[in-house]
Amino acid sequence: MVESVKIGVAGLGTVGVGVLKILEAHGGLLESRSGVKLEVTAVSSRDRTKDRGVSLDGMTWYENASDMATDNNVDIILELIGGSDGIAKDLCEKALEAGKSVVTANKALLAVHGTALAEQAEAHNVTIAYEAAVAGGIPIVKALREGLSGNAISRVYGILNGTCNYILTEMEETGGEFESILKEAQDLGYAEADPSFDIDGVDAAHKLAILTSLAYATPVDFDKVYIEGITSVTADDISYATELGYRIKLLGVARRTDKGIEQRVHPCMVRKDTSIANVSGVFNAVVAEGDSVDSTVYVGRGAGEGPTASAVIADVIDIAAGRLTPTFGVPVVKMKPIPSVSIEDHVGCYYVCLTVYDKPGVIADVSAVFRDEDISIESLLQRGRSEQEAVPVILVTHEVKEASLVRALAKIEKFDHSVARPRMIRIVSL
Ligand code: HSE
Repeated sequence: MVESVKIGVAGLGTVGVGVLKILEAHGGLLESRSGVKLEVTAVSSRDRTKDRGVSLDGMTWYENASDMATDNNVDIILELIGGSDGIAKDLCEKALEAGKSVVTANKALLAVHGTALAEQAEAHNVTIAYEAAVAGGIPIVKALREGLSGNAISRVYGILNGTCNYILTEMEETGGEFESILKEAQDLGYAEADPSFDIDGVDAAHKLAILTSLAYATPVDFDKVYIEGITSVTADDISYATELGYRIKLLGVARRTDKGIEQRVHPCMVRKDTSIANVSGVFNAVVAEGDSVDSTVYVGRGAGEGPTASAVIADVIDIAAGRLTPTFGVPVVKMKPIPSVSIEDHVGCYYVCLTVYDKPGVIADVSAVFRDEDISIESLLQRGRSEQEAVPVILVTHEVKEASLVRALAKIEKFDHSVARPRMIRIVSL
């Protein structure tokens, strides 16, 4: 008789139901891939009475998901509840303590407590797997942890949030402003009622912190991620980006420099002919650059029932088949802290948008500030002509240290002829 591995599913939202559907639809295929029968023996969710369109017959129902951790009839726990603390963390810790491997889609949990959970898993010879936590259906965790393990990774970056990518794509296609496109995205169900984690860049930062740990064998350090969301990107920025040959994307970038690691999430201008610039709508994409392999690109759906459940099932199969790998590719004792490079030390080119009165001498004053900060201007364009009203002046800089640019913009903001806070967007060369 084929041995069976018993699964407890905590959280029957979109992903949990997706997992049950795949197990139901592909039982035979999954059995041949894992070498065991995968059987859901326990479930937990908020509402017991809700019809989810899947059968829960024969499964033990837990009101409190944490209690599932010590059920002798459960071998693997699927934590699909979410949140960096509370019940999700409690369940994972109890399950690992009880010697059960955990599969989770919870990026917040991993970004904040990933190293401690990995340590706990190793102490009990089990694992905590999280393919679904980063870029949904794209198998980027496996790619970095296993497929690219022969490489020193110089940079990993990507579109890690589908909501932001959808909004930025729509802004470019329709010319609409952020707020109205966000509202449409909410009406269509592409953005959450409370979209702050997505649009403020926190969700992407959680994912980036995990990717950084995997890429550089270093403890997860979410607090060191510089985070800037997309709420201040304007329709004008998008239109000037187009004119300059760029697209605006919210990217998460982790980069090894000779001073340490940069971890940053912010709107970026990327050349239109790059692969990442052509990933539109809700899609995610990750680019990993290794010294031997060069650049590798992964594109796919970063959220939703099927893609996320697909990643959860892949982890379940690995664990059921006995393929237990260290959580971040190396045992926690082998992880090395690497200094963090602050955003002020970032060196790159910048798009700058000034709003100034159209009077003689304004550009001379602006140029003087840039000269004093040793910032070289690559191009400058002004749109409109109006003595009485403010006009946008767009500048693109050569490479400059961010701290110098920030100082320059603070000086320009104080000019009498400056009528709005200068805006800047980092240009990323890919
Ligand atoms: N809310 C995320 C997104 C998916 O919009 O990509 C889950 O992290």
